[in-house]
Amino acid sequence: MQSILLHPNENIAPVAEILQSGGLVVFPTETVYGLGANALNEEAVKKIFTAKGRPQDNPLIVHIADLEAIKSVVDEIPEKAVRLFERFSPGPLTLVLKKSKDLPSVVTAGLESVAVRIPAHPRALEFLSAVNLPVAAPSANRSGRPSPTTFEMAVSEMKGRADAIIDGGDCRLGLESTVLKVDEKGLTLLRPGSISREEISDFSGERVWTRGENSKKIESPGMKYRHYRPKAEVFFTEKFDVMQIAKRFENKKMGVLCLSPAPPVFILPDLVEVLSFESVEDYAASLYKSFFDFDQKGADIILAQSVPETGLGLALMNRIKKAGTPL
Ligand code: TXA
Ligand code: MG
Repeated sequence: MQSILLHPNENIAPVAEILQSGGLVVFPTETVYGLGANALNEEAVKKIFTAKGRPQDNPLIVHIADLEAIKSVVDEIPEKAVRLFERFSPGPLTLVLKKSKDLPSVVTAGLESVAVRIPAHPRALEFLSAVNLPVAAPSANRSGRPSPTTFEMAVSEMKGRADAIIDGGDCRLGLESTVLKVDEKGLTLLRPGSISREEISDFSGERVWTRGENSKKIESPGMKYRHYRPKAEVFFTEKFDVMQIAKRFENKKMGVLCLSPAPPVFILPDLVEVLSFESVEDYAASLYKSFFDFDQKGADIILAQSVPETGLGLALMNRIKKAGTPL
């Protein structure tokens, strides 16, 4: 398959038509690039699973341009959900709500609920408005790999697998959206993201549950799979014991991710690069791109510094822990 590459100032209409006629289109969002199909077209949605190599029991997020468009996927929207959307959308918040019968069950992997999000990236909103349909889209990586956060990564993952790829530059946030279930049990955080548990709870005045606290079963099917793995092996640690690291990874090419000021890793042999970030925000925004760059540079090992699991740190550590193992 030939993938059309759409550059930043090019007319979006032809690519919107590709999606309307059942094709797959990769589009940028403020979190990560998504691999989109018409959510109301079962055959089109099935192609997403093939292109990604994604297990069929992992449901997709439906993207819409504005709250008005939610009618095509949800019959009734609880007042609480409206308030959350009004406060945090367009933005990195995905709400899991009771699904409409009209939505093909392949989108939700047979679940009675559907995940919905209004992304904030201007090119995503332009695309969704032009398409004028709900767009089912997982992150545009092949299953198990880090999500693409740059056009180059999106092309590397999906060229030849999607009909078109829209260039929207680098994704501002770099981690997938917060997934929050809204139902009679209250609010349950299914996947941490840039909108933190603390922010949601402050705004709603409600306790935000996490998985397992108010239910035993796996609520977000995707959370049970291996994720975000680059080719290099990822390890995480709070403190860098340089002597121990040097001994354990003798002759291995190493990339290091840490907060500034960097620990004394510069004395390690075979360093590919040390990326030290000024803030947890910068670290999160660059995580997947760093994985990609370290792979390109032939790193065998990536050492990632742990951060406290509060605010955005919870989302960052969630991804690092899935990508690797403790040192
Ligand atoms: O930032 C994002 O959310 C990106 C961009 C493209 O919007 N999308 C994304 O999609 O990360 P994906 O498919 O990689 O992750 C969707 C997550 C999975 O963990 C999935 O299991 C969960 O949302 N999910 C989707 N529908 C669900 C549902 N009905 N109930 C519970 N979890 C659901
Ligand atoms: Mg994903």
